[in-house]
Amino acid sequence: MAKILVAGASGQLGKHVVRELKLRGYAVRAIARDAGKLASLGIEDAVTADLTKPETMRGVCDGVDAVISCAGASMNINDFKDRQSFYEVDYQGNLHLLNEARKANVDKFVYVSLAGAENLRQTEYADAHEKIVEALRASEVKSVVIRPTGFFRFNLELLKFAAKGRGLVVGKGHCKTNPIHEADVATVCVDALESETSDIPAGGPEIFTRRETVEMAFAALNRKPSIVSIPPGLFKLMVAPLKLFNRRIYALMDFGIAVTQVDSIAPVVGSRNLRRYFEEAVKSL
Ligand SMILES: NC(=O)c1ccc[n+]([C@@H]2O[C@H](COP(=O)([O-])OP(=O)(O)OC[C@H]3O[C@@H](n4cnc5c(N)ncnc54)[C@H](OP(=O)(O)O)[C@@H]3O)[C@@H](O)[C@H]2O)c1
Repeated sequence: MAKILVAGASGQLGKHVVRELKLRGYAVRAIARDAGKLASLGIEDAVTADLTKPETMRGVCDGVDAVISCAGASMNINDFKDRQSFYEVDYQGNLHLLNEARKANVDKFVYVSLAGAENLRQTEYADAHEKIVEALRASEVKSVVIRPTGFFRFNLELLKFAAKGRGLVVGKGHCKTNPIHEADVATVCVDALESETSDIPAGGPEIFTRRETVEMAFAALNRKPSIVSIPPGLFKLMVAPLKLFNRRIYALMDFGIAVTQVDSIAPVVGSRNLRRYFEEAVKSL
């Protein structure tokens, strides 16, 4: 039975990857920083390690056939305590993991970047992802890069906002995207273990404008939409002070502004429906 190391196993995506691997009969080793979150996955082979601290990573890939890395600096915009930046975790941290994978001669390294990252490199978030993609391409380890659009879970922030009667679009909100459910991305990640393709963009089944996703959040709550449009330049000025308090959250906001000003559409691989997801999520708000 092949053994797969999942980095970032406790994250929104990682949890689904672990579940999908178990369903398909793979043996799993899980790593993340937080022992409590790892324990809740119910995996015997769980290693508490910090990707940014190579001394905690030694031998982590020993006995492993392939790596799936969904590890990156936290995507939680409400957690001001976690200060590790995208360059530190997504790039440097995954570089340490790649070094371990090389030492252990793993067959394949599946890495989760994002759709359209190549065109958003002015932002730290996309640049950090692309820097590690370059390192993977330059290494002798076979790699597959998954490029999903925004996860449904991230769109939940719109619903929480709408529940407070607030809706926000940056600019006109007319740029389009096809968000994807994390479980659908997990299927793509696990399929990638057997794939010969090196780059897999992954989007959900429906394309919406950014404004439509906000309207959908209000509709799920049975509320009349109340949407404010903020010019991207003004919003950038508003979030600039965040840099002083938490560089990661600033970088996420900076990316959010940039990505909503371009279309971010990837080939349809997901099947789950965002409207239904919002309707379900409303029940537990
Ligand atoms: N969310 C989206 O819309 C989206 C879209 C496209 C691509 N992506 C990318 O997909 C990946 C997964 O996203 P996600 O939403 O699942 O993120 P997430 O929920 O924030 O999970 C991140 C995972 O990485 C781990 N981690 C963070 N820092 C670490 C460190 N220094 N050492 C070891 N592990 C660390 C976290 O666990 P601990 O905190 O316990 O360490 C967690 O398991 C990320 O790279 C993200 O950029 C996300």
